[in-house]
Amino acid sequence: MARIRVQGTEVDITTYPSETMLDALKRTGNAIRVGCRRGGCAICKVEVIEGTFEYTRPIADKVLTEEEQERGTCLTCRAVPTSDMVVSLEGHHERVNTLLTFFQQHAQNQAG
Ligand code: FES
Repeated sequence: MARIRVQGTEVDITTYPSETMLDALKRTGNAIRVGCRRGGCAICKVEVIEGTFEYTRPIADKVLTEEEQERGTCLTCRAVPTSDMVVSLEGHHERVNTLLTFFQQHAQNQAG
């Protein structure tokens, strides 16, 4: 079990053994937006401020840039904490909105 705190919020949750960060957030009513849930789209990514995690199931090779991997960005749908963690959701919703705009424009282009 590990604790996950979300920087700048009151969110402070305890995970179950082998539980992904996404499942823990969702179980406690703190779900964030997600896409594929299989480590392939990066919609669920967050910045890790403190703590460690592991991927117990594979993620897509190029879904995170080298820079993101180095600074601790993780895919919450696959990441299982291996210590207490502090994460930042800053920029999360803006990134999701950018992706939604892209997909909406793509859908409009396909239709028209
Ligand atoms: S939801 Fe797609 S990578 Fe996590």
